[in-house]
Amino acid sequence: MTIIKVYPHPEICPEGAEIQAKPGDTVCETLLDNKISIEHACELSCACTTCHVLVRKGFSDLDDASEAEEDMLDKAWGLEAQSRLSCQVVIGEEDLEIELPKYTINMVSEQN
Ligand code: FES
Repeated sequence: MTIIKVYPHPEICPEGAEIQAKPGDTVCETLLDNKISIEHACELSCACTTCHVLVRKGFSDLDDASEAEEDMLDKAWGLEAQSRLSCQVVIGEEDLEIELPKYTINMVSEQN
């Protein structure tokens, strides 16, 4: 089992979490299975960016993002060098630490 540590996020995961993940599953599926309600507007098909996460530890151990993911990521709110779309990140043997961005593109457009 791989451990994913999720940093606290005021709405989605106020206390933070440490969850057991199965290598081969995606980060997004694993979060949802553990009641961390990350947005996933396109149902994990790499077409929305609402599942954007910042991989604070373990980023370099992950498989590289596909071109489709990179293209989509460019549209994400708060893009950083450690950004990934969690529905495209396949969990490996290395533990991960992730931060959920403060906003998603949906929330930003709702506020404007
Ligand atoms: S759920 Fe839409 S890109 Fe991941």
